[in-house]
Amino acid sequence: MVTASEEYSFTSFSNLTFYTKVNERLLDLAEVGKQRKIVDLGCGTGGITKLILERLQSAKNTAIYAVDHSTTALKAAAEEIGDRKDVAINYVHSEVQNLTGSVKEKVDAIVYCNSIHYVPDKKELLGQIKNKLQPNGIFAFNTSFFEGSHPEDSLLFFRKWMMRSLRILKREHGMVPEKTAKVQSRVQLNADDYINLVEDAGFKVLVNDLNRVDVPHEGWHHISGFSDWIEGVMPGVPLDVGRRALQKGLAQTWDEMNLKTVPRVWLSVSAAKV
Ligand SMILES: C[S@@+](CC[C@H](N)C(=O)[O-])C[C@H]1O[C@@H](n2cnc3c(N)ncnc32)[C@H](O)[C@@H]1O
Repeated sequence: MVTASEEYSFTSFSNLTFYTKVNERLLDLAEVGKQRKIVDLGCGTGGITKLILERLQSAKNTAIYAVDHSTTALKAAAEEIGDRKDVAINYVHSEVQNLTGSVKEKVDAIVYCNSIHYVPDKKELLGQIKNKLQPNGIFAFNTSFFEGSHPEDSLLFFRKWMMRSLRILKREHGMVPEKTAKVQSRVQLNADDYINLVEDAGFKVLVNDLNRVDVPHEGWHHISGFSDWIEGVMPGVPLDVGRRALQKGLAQTWDEMNLKTVPRVWLSVSAAKV
């Protein structure tokens, strides 16, 4: 039986060792774990929630709020994490933009992994994040969707992968992505834009880190099974068909280019409420 954590979710990607390391790095830089009350914004299927749980120094009086607008993702997170009697884990079904109303108390840290790029009005959200933090509270986020996340030496791979996948989609499935269905393109900010936004919202930036990460084949393979990715690169194409075309195109490109890994840059930022 396929559980909520499997079908087109982020789980298989989120559990990869390289991805765990990327997020461990953010949690290290932001010293997450010392705090008692932590929000995991855009928690998805709970990959980061689990990492936070491992770090809590004492379970006493601790609470985690895992916020996501996807009921499927929250269900998968609850399945992944299982019963925890020692820590209060609150699964909050909400748009992150409703943070003020959906999490009732002030918290010590807000962690936001690989999701900030989804939100169009980041300025407004950062205001809510700041208000939700205790004085000196920490806000930490990372993203690999920003202007500058694609190193030069990854561009040829992307071009070839997408061309092959689109060819497979056409030849084997008789389909082309719908131009009109294209997901409203997300404006990609650069690292400086992010830092300016965070500072303008009244935070003191503690860490501003650009980290080149070697993503293995399995990373690209599993991301090709994630609904948001498929919808982003093959708008209007049924998820099962998109996944098949992308994964087949990937395997061919990987062999042809004799690749071991393809790099991607992650931006990690940690900031304190001042
Ligand atoms: C790429 S996944 C990252 C999940 C998790 N943070 C991780 O790194 O494993 C992005 C998650 O953000 C959620 N999301 C996107 N936009 C959202 C919004 N406006 N409000 C709440 N959740 C959102 C999606 O449902 C998805 O679960």
